[in-house]
This record gives sequence, C-alpha cells and structure tokens, in this order.
Amino acid sequence: MKHFLPVVILFLFASCKDDRHEEERTITNHEQTEEVEVVDAHSYANPTEVRTQHLHLNIAIDFEKQIIKGKVEHSIEHLNESRNFIVDIHDLKIDSVFLDDSIKVDWELGNFDSIMGQAMHIPVLPETKIVTIHYETSPNSKALQWLTPQQTAGKKFPYLFTQGQAILTRTWIPCQDTPGNRISYSADLKVPPHLMAVMSATNVTSKHKAGNYHFEMDKRIPTYLIALAVGDIHFQGLSDRTGVYAEREMLSASAYEFEQVEEMILAAEELYGAYRWGRYDMIVLPPSFPYGGMENPKLTFATPTIIAGDRSLVSLIAHELAHSWSGNLVTNATWDDFWLNEGFTVYFENRIMEKIYGIDYANMLFSIEYDDLIKENEEILNGEHPEDSKLKLDLAGRDPDDGMTAIAYVKGALFLKTIEAAVGREKFDVFVDQYFNEHAFQTITTEDFIIYLEEELLVPNEVNFNVDEWVYEKGIPNNAIKIESSRFDEVELKSSKIKGMKSVEELGIDPEKFTTHEWIHFIRNIPETATPEEFAMLDSVYNFTNCGNAEVMAVWYVKSIEHNYTYINESMRLFLTEVGRRKFLEPIYEELVKSEEGLVVARDIYASARANYHSISVGTIDEILNWQKNSLN
Ligand code: BES
Ligand code: ZN
Repeated sequence: MKHFLPVVILFLFASCKDDRHEEERTITNHEQTEEVEVVDAHSYANPTEVRTQHLHLNIAIDFEKQIIKGKVEHSIEHLNESRNFIVDIHDLKIDSVFLDDSIKVDWELGNFDSIMGQAMHIPVLPETKIVTIHYETSPNSKALQWLTPQQTAGKKFPYLFTQGQAILTRTWIPCQDTPGNRISYSADLKVPPHLMAVMSATNVTSKHKAGNYHFEMDKRIPTYLIALAVGDIHFQGLSDRTGVYAEREMLSASAYEFEQVEEMILAAEELYGAYRWGRYDMIVLPPSFPYGGMENPKLTFATPTIIAGDRSLVSLIAHELAHSWSGNLVTNATWDDFWLNEGFTVYFENRIMEKIYGIDYANMLFSIEYDDLIKENEEILNGEHPEDSKLKLDLAGRDPDDGMTAIAYVKGALFLKTIEAAVGREKFDVFVDQYFNEHAFQTITTEDFIIYLEEELLVPNEVNFNVDEWVYEKGIPNNAIKIESSRFDEVELKSSKIKGMKSVEELGIDPEKFTTHEWIHFIRNIPETATPEEFAMLDSVYNFTNCGNAEVMAVWYVKSIEHNYTYINESMRLFLTEVGRRKFLEPIYEELVKSEEGLVVARDIYASARANYHSISVGTIDEILNWQKNSLN
C-alpha cells in the first residue's frame, strides 16, 4: 500500500520505467522520504486514509436461504484527516452501521459496477475505533458455492465453500478488498449442528455439537486470503504440523496422496527459510471447486481431481505450499503485479519438486508448463489484448481474473530461471531468501521489485540483464533459457509412431514405467493426422477414457474431440457433469464448439451441468457457449 523509498533510489531508477508506470503513482513529499501511493484499480477502498487493521466476523450460515448473515467489526486506524471509511461491497444487503457499538450512522453507496461492485462510504469520527456493519449476502454472491447434499460425496449434508481471490471477498464480507492492505482477522461462526467449519486460520479437528466455531488469524494477510468451508468434514493428521480435511469418503485416499507434504515443507524451508504460519493443513473440497488449488493460509483448498491414487499430481500442493512465502508472506500490491505471486510460486514449486524427486522429474513438469506458455502466448499475441503477454499487466476496467494466464505463471517463472542461470544458483537463492525475509508480511509492486532486484542482485554481481524487456514488453525474450527433458524426447518419438501403426505394441511403451506426465506428453503429441481408428486402438489398450487420472483424461478428451474419435461418451459426460475445475472444462468445451455436432452435445451437457458449476466456471463457459445471449435457454 505505502512504500517509503529513499529519494536517491527513485531517481536512480526512474529512467527504467515508461510513463504509464509513473502515472499510476501519486508521489508526495514526506520529509526525507518519498511516499509512493500505489493505486489499486480494482478496489474503491481508501486504506491510505482510514484502514482496517483487524476484522472480526460474527456470522451465521443459513443453508436453507443460502445466505450468510451477521456482522463484521472493523478495527480501524486513521492515517490522515479523512472522515470517510470506504469499503468494497458486491451483492451484499447492508442492514445498519455503528461506530464503536453506540453511534448509528448512515452510509452512502457508489455506482454499481458488475466487476467491482460498489463503494460503501461510512462517515467516521476522529476517535472512532470500531466500525460495525450488519449485513447479509445474496444467494448469488460470487465467492460462495452452496452445494446440495446430492452434490457432495456423502450425499447427506449440504456444503459451502468460499473463493476470495481475486476480488470476491467483497461478495461475502464488506471490506477494504485490496491486496495492498494487510489485516489480521478473527471469526465467530454459527453453522447447523453436525457440520464442521474450517477457515484460513486456527482450526479445530473435530466437530462442535451445537455448531459454534471460533477462529483466529493473528498474522496480517490480504483480504483475498480469508476463506471458509462448511460441511460434513473430517480430519486426519499427517505429521505434527500437517493434516488433511475432507468428507469421510475422500479422507483416507487424500491422506495417502498427501503423505509427503511434511517432506515438501522441509524442502521449502531448506530453500527459503522457516514456514511462518504454524500448521499447514489441506482441505479436499467437492469436485465443483473451480480451481486446482487455492493457497488460503494455514489451510490450502484443493480439488479432489488431484487425488489420483498414485501421488502423481501432488506438485499442485508444492505450488500452494510455496505460496506460503510467495504470495502470502510477500504479496502482489495490485492484480497488475500478479506475476509476482504466481511466477515466484511456479519457480519455487519447481525447486521443491526438484529437491524431492530430482531434476529430471522437475524438468518434465516445467516442460509441460512451458508448452502451455508457448501456446497461450501466441493466442494472447493474436487476441484482443496482446499487451496481456507482458508480466506487468494493466487490467483497469477489466476482471482481474483475465490476468490468470501462463504469462504470470510460466513466463514469470521462466524470467526467474533465466536470471538464476545468469547469476548462478547460489547467489540467486541468497537473493530470494533475503527478498522473502525483508518483505515478509508486506506487499510489493513490480516497480519496487525491479529496484530491489537491480540493487541486491544484478548490480553487485555486475550482471547485465534485460529486465525491462521481460517485464514491460510483449512475448518471450530471446534469452529465455531452454529446459531440456530427455525423457520427453523419447516420449515424442513414441507418439510419432502412432500414425500408421498396426498395433499399439509397435510403440514400445512399457506402461509400468511410463509416468503420468509422460502419458500427458504422449497424448499431447499425438500426430495431427492420427485417425479415429488409431485413437480407438490406443484407448482399447491404455483405457485413457476411463483411466481415473483427471489430468490424463482431460487432455485425452480434448484430443479425442479434435480428431473425431468421439464428440462425447458416457465417461466424458460424467466428467463434465461432476468436475467443475475450470482448467479442465474450458479446453473441452472450446474443442466441442468447433463443430456443429459438438456444439449440440456441449449445449446439452451444459444445460444439466451448469447448476453444478461454481460461478467462476459458469462465467467462462457461458461465454464459450454464448449461453446468456441465446434466448433458447
Ligand atoms: N492462487 C491461485 C488460484 C487463483 C489465481 C485463484 C487467481 C483466483 C485468481 C492458485 O495458487 C493456483 O495457481 N492454482 C492453480 C494450480 C497451480 C498448480 C498452477 C490452479 O488452480 O489451476
Ligand atoms: Zn498459484
């Protein structure tokens, strides 16, 4: 939110930035330092004037009405003379507002914006310490997904989970919803008896009979990391500081899958310093969870589609764990700086995987992501917003979710890998460790990161690096390092033999030795001219359609549709109906709509599946199918 930089540094590096970046900053004199206010285009709040320090929630979860109702108390700090406390709200019904529990005040709402919601202006007094807002959510609050018992594994109890990132916390809590403001929080929750509630905070491990739960998060976090899940949830411990929450049906499989998590934490700590959040637990959510994982502090939220039975998809946990440093400890100041969260995390995730499983395996994982980057970079460059291929984004007026592309994730990580190669791993690791320590529990902009990088790493080591090209220019610079994977070279050779094969044996694959990622790469590299008959041959031997590994099934389905092997079969229909993970749904629907027959099938499936999907996935698939605009629905 506020960055105090010595004047000298600002002037020294002012020339590195183009005008646009200067415009985003308001620079005011502040004695001997220059105060740089970072503007978050995705929040109406004014934390540089009056800011929330601590937020206390006192809410009840009403599954019948599908609403959350109660109050939030903001403990505020006055930073200037402003008597206006501005919070973000979106689809919330405000009942009343009190200052210090005694003075009832009126509030004013700003214009409504379908992406950002509304500003809520609350008049405060110089002495005001606590602002209490009584409110309830609306049934279409975007952060919340309410599941009927039928949509859960146990089929007996309803379920609720929240997704705050990027700007959805304001759809269930009136708050200053900008990553630029860090707060501690606590909560008192009332849920129906028999249900368990967990948050991104201290958690209990067994149910409270009457359904009363208390939570504390004493570390300062951005609001997008406030998270809640309520359901028939059980716990199984894994190590002294790790464990997993899930519905009973998923619990032991999840515990098996995540057994190596303690090892991952140790690897991460060895790289970049102590894990600072106490416990690290995970919750495996119902399959409609729209993401793979979400790094909610102390409690990673995860999709059940990573429970493959063979631990082959656990790099996702390494990723969410890595966010405990990159993202949760050091946070992007605005959503235009999103690559600082995700690029660092993909880099760090890959280092954890390398430490535990070796360089060959880590390179294989990164190579898959690299292929995604090449493809998506091309799409972005040829699309409506070619500037989205820059690391530093400009998402003002747009949904910050638009920034969730391989650019932030993989170009970001590739940038760091290329710097690492230039300065050497040893020096790079010292730098990263120091970066996390010196910015712990703070937010940082891309501009400040670059200054830090130049000062602490590049200049002292006399390394000339095209930082500005990487950050402020489109596409992938020529000096990007190449990640070689010899195992993948062999896989590609096998894929190339599919065309014209007489039998699958000719490929020379030993299925016992092929790993999940080799299968994924094999399928991705099926020759463009492969026939439906060749697909059928592969499927009859390897059973991709029903293999149970969601990553493998998802790429197979896309390829199957693309090659007219099938527009749809029962397994695909089931997958599309149950799984709400956007990363899988999006490419499958996109492939289906490319043909008339496929479009009919897609619309038919979506008509029944849509109600199972989270609003985040619904938004994306609606667009692919032109759903809202088509009057037939
Ligand atoms: N923080 C992200 C998820 C996210 C990003 C949610 C932006 C909303 C807005 C999380 O850490 C993530 O990156 N998840 C990935 C998995 C990861 C292994 C790349 C996902 O969900 O696919
Ligand atoms: Zn991430």
